[in-house]
Amino acid sequence: MEPDVSKSDVSKSDVSKCRVCAGEVRKFFDFGTQPLSDAFLTEREADQAFHFRLAVGLCTACTMVQLLEEVPRERMFHHDYPYHSSGSRHMREHFAQTARELLATELTGPDPFCVEIGSNDGVMLGVIKDAGVRHLGVEPSGGVAELARKDGVRVRTDFFEESTARLIAAEDGPADVVYAANTICHIPYLDSILRGVDILLRPGGVFVFEDPYLGDIAERNTFDQIYDEHFYLFTARSVRGVARRFGFELVDVRRLPVHGGEVRYTLARQGEREVSPAVPALIEEEAGRGLAELETLEKLGQGIDRICADLVALLEDLRRQGRSVAGYGATAKSATVTNYAGIGPELLPCVYDTTPAKIGRLMPGSGIPIRAAGEFSRPYPDYAVLFAWNHTDEILAREAEFAAQGGKWIVYVPEVRVL
Ligand code: SAH
Ligand code: TYD
Ligand code: ZN
Repeated sequence: MEPDVSKSDVSKSDVSKCRVCAGEVRKFFDFGTQPLSDAFLTEREADQAFHFRLAVGLCTACTMVQLLEEVPRERMFHHDYPYHSSGSRHMREHFAQTARELLATELTGPDPFCVEIGSNDGVMLGVIKDAGVRHLGVEPSGGVAELARKDGVRVRTDFFEESTARLIAAEDGPADVVYAANTICHIPYLDSILRGVDILLRPGGVFVFEDPYLGDIAERNTFDQIYDEHFYLFTARSVRGVARRFGFELVDVRRLPVHGGEVRYTLARQGEREVSPAVPALIEEEAGRGLAELETLEKLGQGIDRICADLVALLEDLRRQGRSVAGYGATAKSATVTNYAGIGPELLPCVYDTTPAKIGRLMPGSGIPIRAAGEFSRPYPDYAVLFAWNHTDEILAREAEFAAQGGKWIVYVPEVRVL
């Protein structure tokens, strides 16, 4: 990974200009200066980390929830991007199921073509490929793109945007489906994305994407979903709004039980498909919960501060008692928790993870060393903070022996608890 000495321009303004509608974005929470969440540096590189100001706000005009400061995309998504989608069995199953559904419903014509934005290591497109269906992944992070290619998946190492869409349309023709998971919320330039999708999609085709849902984040106060890469926190209402600006309609929504709660949005060109009753139903539910009101979102802040204070108090207490503690899952999310709460190696000496590109490196900002998950049992700590709480069932099953030998899991959303 390229070390980097420069800092971004940290301004302290409480308002910014909406990336969707140029309206006024009002801040509802400020995490202050934070490192990049997926920058796992070595000891030698650690003092050269890039920082930015992590603050989140609501557009008072179009209701889109977004970060106030944007990190240049090349700093986050590059050859050494460490996140591998295939790292969880649960997610592999989810994407296999997704691929089967797309094959059965949208990729049924004579020579269908599926494009995925942010295809990562090919976890979804691999299944499309196995079905013999024409496909293309668009993935700027060269390392994970290469892993997909090794599996026989066709990938273009590039950022998807309007110009990329034009090139793909010229080379491969129109797509029946453009799909993206956990990627569209990473992309501030939605204007270019939607114009690109419009260029690429055949008449009657659909744009399907799934991302963490503000409704779930607010319900369980999973505030660690807020980090550099998650530029937007979508609702059905805000997605419908941005879709309409570019000639699309939100025609379907489905809540998904992955990553702590997501919504899968289906967009079609205006007038091309009927709108499912699920769309107005979810938008009405959001209105009832006040998800587009600054007051509701500001209340989350009290919860964030309480959770962080409780977690630090628990870790300090365990240290006083001489208990050993470790973290489990060097997630991007955990950068927000550890850096905002001020948790470093003195409270949490190490974090275990299965990802080869993270092992032996340091947690961003906090500098907590990352060790191979295979070493978790040598010896087990007394307590383990479950940073990968979105994979609770999978990890508790995989590490059943830890609990069997008296080990205790600590979770922190929606509140700090010892399981
Ligand atoms: N779809 C996978 C990966 C999500 S991580 C999953 O759900 O697990 C987000 C991915 O989006 C990263 O691999 C990143 O490199 C990619 N990405 C970021 N900006 C992009 C853009 N403009 N076009 C295409 N991919 C992008
Ligand atoms: P994840 O929570 O999916 O994403 P993010 O980084 O976006 O917050 O990341 C899960 C992390 O947990 C990843 O680094 C792999 C690791 N992990 C394990 O160490 N063991 C496991 O059994 C699983 C499922 C994940
Ligand atoms: Zn706006």
